[in-house]
Amino acid sequence: MLIVKNIVKKFHGKKILDDVSFSAAPGEIVVLLGQSGVGKSTILRVLSNLETIDSGSIELDHGPIDFKKVGMVFQDFNLFAHMTVQQNLTVPLTKVALKSEQEAQTIAHLMLDRFNVLSKAQDYPVALSGGQKQRVALARALCLNPQVLCLDEPTSALDPQLTSDVAKIITELAEQQMVIVIATHDIGLLEALSCTIHLMRDGKIIQSATSKMLQENPESFINIKNFVQGK
Ligand SMILES: Nc1ncnc2c1ncn2[C@@H]1O[C@H](COP(=O)(O)OP(=O)(O)O)[C@@H](O)[C@H]1O
Ligand SMILES: [Mg+2]
Repeated sequence: MLIVKNIVKKFHGKKILDDVSFSAAPGEIVVLLGQSGVGKSTILRVLSNLETIDSGSIELDHGPIDFKKVGMVFQDFNLFAHMTVQQNLTVPLTKVALKSEQEAQTIAHLMLDRFNVLSKAQDYPVALSGGQKQRVALARALCLNPQVLCLDEPTSALDPQLTSDVAKIITELAEQQMVIVIATHDIGLLEALSCTIHLMRDGKIIQSATSKMLQENPESFINIKNFVQGK
Protein backbone atom coordinates (compact mmCIF):
# COMPACT_ATOMS: atom_id res chain seq x y z
CA MET A 1 0.00 0.00 0.00
CA LEU A 2 1.24 3.46 -0.94
CA ILE A 3 0.16 6.15 1.53
CA VAL A 4 0.78 9.81 0.78
CA LYS A 5 -0.09 11.87 3.84
CA ASN A 6 -0.46 15.64 4.02
CA ILE A 7 2.45 16.45 1.77
CA VAL A 8 3.49 20.04 1.27
CA LYS A 9 6.04 21.16 -1.30
CA LYS A 10 7.09 24.77 -1.65
CA PHE A 11 9.07 26.42 -4.40
CA HIS A 12 10.41 29.87 -3.50
CA GLY A 13 8.09 30.02 -0.50
CA LYS A 14 4.98 29.24 -2.53
CA LYS A 15 3.01 26.07 -1.78
CA ILE A 16 2.97 24.04 -4.99
CA LEU A 17 1.61 20.97 -3.19
CA ASP A 18 -0.73 22.02 -0.43
CA ASP A 19 -1.64 19.20 1.96
CA VAL A 20 -1.99 16.39 -0.58
CA SER A 21 -3.11 12.99 0.71
CA PHE A 22 -4.09 9.82 -1.14
CA SER A 23 -3.40 6.12 -0.96
CA ALA A 24 -3.21 3.30 -3.46
CA ALA A 25 -3.34 -0.46 -3.04
CA PRO A 26 -1.33 -2.91 -5.15
CA GLY A 27 -3.07 -3.25 -8.51
CA GLU A 28 -4.66 0.18 -8.27
CA ILE A 29 -4.34 2.80 -11.01
CA VAL A 30 -4.36 6.34 -9.64
CA VAL A 31 -4.90 9.22 -12.04
CA LEU A 32 -3.84 12.71 -10.96
CA LEU A 33 -6.02 14.82 -13.21
CA GLY A 34 -5.94 18.54 -13.78
CA GLN A 35 -4.94 21.51 -15.88
CA SER A 36 -1.33 22.37 -16.53
CA GLY A 37 0.46 23.84 -13.51
CA VAL A 38 -1.69 22.32 -10.74
CA GLY A 39 1.15 20.17 -9.36
CA LYS A 40 0.65 16.74 -10.97
CA SER A 41 4.26 16.26 -12.10
CA THR A 42 5.53 17.56 -8.78
CA ILE A 43 3.69 14.73 -7.00
CA LEU A 44 5.37 12.18 -9.29
CA ARG A 45 8.72 13.88 -8.71
CA VAL A 46 8.40 13.65 -4.92
CA LEU A 47 7.27 10.02 -5.22
CA SER A 48 10.45 9.27 -7.18
CA ASN A 49 12.72 11.31 -4.89
CA LEU A 50 13.56 13.89 -7.55
CA GLU A 51 12.22 16.54 -5.17
CA THR A 52 12.09 16.54 -1.37
CA ILE A 53 8.93 17.40 0.57
CA ASP A 54 8.68 20.21 3.11
CA SER A 55 6.26 18.31 5.32
CA GLY A 56 4.04 15.25 5.33
CA SER A 57 5.02 11.64 4.70
CA ILE A 58 5.14 8.99 2.01
CA GLU A 59 4.84 5.39 3.13
CA LEU A 60 5.03 2.13 1.24
CA ASP A 61 4.04 -1.09 2.98
CA HIS A 62 3.92 0.32 6.51
CA GLY A 63 7.24 2.16 6.51
CA PRO A 64 8.90 5.21 5.00
CA ILE A 65 9.03 4.69 1.24
CA ASP A 66 12.12 3.07 -0.25
CA PHE A 67 12.51 5.17 -3.37
CA LYS A 68 14.35 2.34 -5.11
CA LYS A 69 10.92 0.69 -5.38
CA VAL A 70 9.57 3.57 -7.48
CA GLY A 71 9.94 3.71 -11.26
CA MET A 72 9.35 6.77 -13.38
CA VAL A 73 8.54 7.24 -17.05
CA PHE A 74 8.99 10.90 -17.94
CA GLN A 75 6.74 12.89 -20.25
CA ASP A 76 9.53 13.23 -22.83
CA PHE A 77 10.85 9.74 -21.93
CA ASN A 78 14.35 11.00 -20.96
CA LEU A 79 16.18 8.29 -22.89
CA PHE A 80 19.97 8.67 -22.94
CA ALA A 81 20.50 9.98 -26.48
CA HIS A 82 24.16 8.93 -26.68
CA MET A 83 23.41 5.31 -25.78
CA THR A 84 21.78 2.54 -27.77
CA VAL A 85 18.37 1.28 -26.73
CA GLN A 86 20.00 -1.73 -25.14
CA GLN A 87 22.48 0.42 -23.20
CA ASN A 88 19.59 2.58 -21.98
CA LEU A 89 18.42 -0.53 -20.13
CA THR A 90 21.71 -2.18 -19.20
CA VAL A 91 23.43 0.92 -17.79
CA PRO A 92 20.87 1.49 -14.97
CA LEU A 93 20.88 -2.27 -14.34
CA THR A 94 24.66 -2.37 -13.86
CA LYS A 95 25.13 1.05 -12.24
CA VAL A 96 21.99 1.30 -10.08
CA ALA A 97 20.87 -2.29 -9.52
CA LEU A 98 24.51 -3.54 -9.54
CA LYS A 99 23.80 -6.47 -11.87
CA SER A 100 26.61 -8.06 -13.84
CA GLU A 101 26.87 -7.06 -17.52
CA GLN A 102 25.74 -10.54 -18.53
CA GLU A 103 22.70 -10.45 -16.22
CA ALA A 104 21.84 -6.91 -17.35
CA GLN A 105 21.88 -7.99 -20.99
CA THR A 106 19.61 -10.94 -20.27
CA ILE A 107 17.07 -8.76 -18.42
CA ALA A 108 17.24 -6.02 -21.10
CA HIS A 109 16.66 -8.59 -23.83
CA LEU A 110 13.58 -9.96 -22.05
CA MET A 111 12.10 -6.55 -21.39
CA LEU A 112 12.71 -5.21 -24.90
CA ASP A 113 11.11 -8.34 -26.28
CA ARG A 114 8.13 -7.99 -23.94
CA PHE A 115 7.54 -4.45 -25.19
CA ASN A 116 8.10 -5.36 -28.79
CA VAL A 117 11.22 -3.23 -29.36
CA LEU A 118 13.88 -5.92 -29.37
CA SER A 119 14.60 -5.27 -33.04
CA LYS A 120 15.66 -1.73 -32.03
CA ALA A 121 18.17 -2.85 -29.38
CA GLN A 122 21.23 -1.59 -31.28
CA ASP A 123 19.62 1.64 -32.50
CA TYR A 124 19.91 5.05 -30.87
CA PRO A 125 16.76 6.70 -29.47
CA VAL A 126 16.70 9.25 -32.29
CA ALA A 127 15.82 6.43 -34.71
CA LEU A 128 12.65 5.47 -32.82
CA SER A 129 9.05 6.61 -33.16
CA GLY A 130 7.31 8.23 -30.17
CA GLY A 131 5.51 5.01 -29.31
CA GLN A 132 8.74 3.00 -29.52
CA LYS A 133 10.58 5.52 -27.30
CA GLN A 134 7.81 5.22 -24.76
CA ARG A 135 7.99 1.41 -24.75
CA VAL A 136 11.78 1.58 -24.28
CA ALA A 137 11.30 4.06 -21.40
CA LEU A 138 8.74 1.72 -19.83
CA ALA A 139 11.01 -1.29 -20.33
CA ARG A 140 13.86 0.65 -18.70
CA ALA A 141 11.73 1.55 -15.67
CA LEU A 142 10.37 -2.00 -15.30
CA CYS A 143 13.85 -3.59 -15.49
CA LEU A 144 14.41 -2.29 -11.97
CA ASN A 145 11.30 -4.15 -10.79
CA PRO A 146 9.40 -1.23 -9.21
CA GLN A 147 6.44 -1.65 -6.88
CA VAL A 148 5.16 1.81 -7.79
CA LEU A 149 5.29 3.08 -11.36
CA CYS A 150 4.85 6.79 -12.09
CA LEU A 151 3.87 7.84 -15.60
CA ASP A 152 3.95 11.54 -16.47
CA GLU A 153 1.54 12.44 -19.29
CA PRO A 154 2.01 9.05 -20.97
CA THR A 155 -0.05 9.97 -24.02
CA SER A 156 1.07 13.55 -24.62
CA ALA A 157 3.90 12.72 -27.04
CA LEU A 158 1.93 10.09 -28.96
CA ASP A 159 -0.63 9.96 -31.72
CA PRO A 160 -4.15 9.78 -30.25
CA GLN A 161 -4.77 6.34 -31.74
CA LEU A 162 -2.03 4.95 -29.46
CA THR A 163 -4.02 5.89 -26.35
CA SER A 164 -5.81 2.55 -26.15
CA ASP A 165 -2.47 0.68 -26.50
CA VAL A 166 -1.05 2.70 -23.61
CA ALA A 167 -4.18 2.07 -21.51
CA LYS A 168 -3.86 -1.66 -22.22
CA ILE A 169 -0.21 -1.76 -21.12
CA ILE A 170 -1.04 0.20 -17.94
CA THR A 171 -3.93 -2.12 -17.11
CA GLU A 172 -1.74 -5.20 -17.58
CA LEU A 173 0.93 -3.76 -15.27
CA ALA A 174 -1.67 -3.01 -12.61
CA GLU A 175 -2.95 -6.57 -12.89
CA GLN A 176 0.52 -7.68 -11.83
CA GLN A 177 -0.11 -5.85 -8.53
CA MET A 178 1.97 -2.79 -9.24
CA VAL A 179 0.70 0.58 -8.00
CA ILE A 180 0.43 2.91 -10.99
CA VAL A 181 0.31 6.68 -10.55
CA ILE A 182 -0.40 8.67 -13.69
CA ALA A 183 -0.30 12.44 -14.15
CA THR A 184 -2.47 13.47 -17.07
CA HIS A 185 -4.95 15.93 -18.47
CA ASP A 186 -5.91 13.49 -21.25
CA ILE A 187 -9.59 12.61 -20.96
CA GLY A 188 -9.23 9.93 -23.64
CA LEU A 189 -6.71 8.10 -21.49
CA LEU A 190 -8.80 8.60 -18.35
CA GLU A 191 -11.83 7.08 -20.04
CA ALA A 192 -9.83 4.08 -21.25
CA LEU A 193 -8.78 3.15 -17.69
CA SER A 194 -10.53 1.70 -14.69
CA CYS A 195 -8.93 3.89 -12.04
CA THR A 196 -9.15 6.16 -9.02
CA ILE A 197 -9.25 9.80 -10.08
CA HIS A 198 -7.96 12.68 -7.99
CA LEU A 199 -8.81 16.02 -9.53
CA MET A 200 -6.28 18.72 -8.65
CA ARG A 201 -6.46 22.46 -8.52
CA ASP A 202 -3.82 24.88 -7.16
CA GLY A 203 -1.72 22.15 -5.55
CA LYS A 204 -4.66 20.46 -3.83
CA ILE A 205 -6.80 17.41 -4.51
CA ILE A 206 -10.26 18.93 -4.74
CA GLN A 207 -12.31 15.83 -5.59
CA SER A 208 -11.76 12.07 -5.82
CA ALA A 209 -13.78 9.25 -7.36
CA THR A 210 -13.29 5.86 -8.94
CA SER A 211 -14.21 5.43 -12.61
CA LYS A 212 -17.15 3.32 -11.45
CA MET A 213 -18.42 5.91 -8.97
CA LEU A 214 -18.15 8.60 -11.63
CA GLN A 215 -20.02 6.50 -14.16
CA GLU A 216 -22.81 5.53 -11.78
CA ASN A 217 -23.24 8.87 -10.09
CA PRO A 218 -21.70 11.70 -12.10
CA GLU A 219 -23.70 14.45 -10.38
CA SER A 220 -21.98 13.64 -7.07
CA PHE A 221 -18.60 14.45 -8.61
CA ILE A 222 -19.46 17.63 -10.38
CA ASN A 223 -15.91 19.04 -10.59
CA ILE A 224 -14.57 15.86 -12.15
CA LYS A 225 -17.59 15.61 -14.44
CA ASN A 226 -17.09 19.20 -15.61
CA PHE A 227 -13.38 18.63 -16.18
CA VAL A 228 -14.13 15.52 -18.23
CA GLN A 229 -16.64 17.47 -20.29
CA GLY A 230 -14.14 20.28 -20.83
CA LYS A 231 -16.11 22.84 -18.84
N1 LIG B 1 11.69 23.26 -9.81
C1 LIG B 1 10.72 24.19 -9.74
N2 LIG B 1 10.97 25.44 -9.30
C2 LIG B 1 9.99 26.37 -9.22
N3 LIG B 1 8.70 26.15 -9.54
C3 LIG B 1 8.38 24.93 -9.98
C4 LIG B 1 9.37 23.88 -10.11
N4 LIG B 1 8.75 22.76 -10.58
C5 LIG B 1 7.45 23.10 -10.73
N5 LIG B 1 7.23 24.39 -10.39
C6 LIG B 1 5.93 25.08 -10.42
O1 LIG B 1 5.01 24.28 -9.73
C7 LIG B 1 3.73 24.35 -10.34
C8 LIG B 1 3.25 22.94 -10.62
O2 LIG B 1 4.06 22.37 -11.63
P1 LIG B 1 3.84 20.89 -12.16
O3 LIG B 1 3.84 19.96 -11.01
O4 LIG B 1 4.82 20.68 -13.23
O5 LIG B 1 2.35 20.99 -12.73
P2 LIG B 1 1.58 20.03 -13.76
O6 LIG B 1 2.37 18.78 -13.92
O7 LIG B 1 0.24 19.82 -13.13
O8 LIG B 1 1.47 20.81 -15.04
C9 LIG B 1 3.89 25.21 -11.57
O9 LIG B 1 3.45 26.49 -11.25
C10 LIG B 1 5.38 25.19 -11.82
O10 LIG B 1 5.79 26.35 -12.45
MG1 LIG C 1 3.16 17.96 -15.64
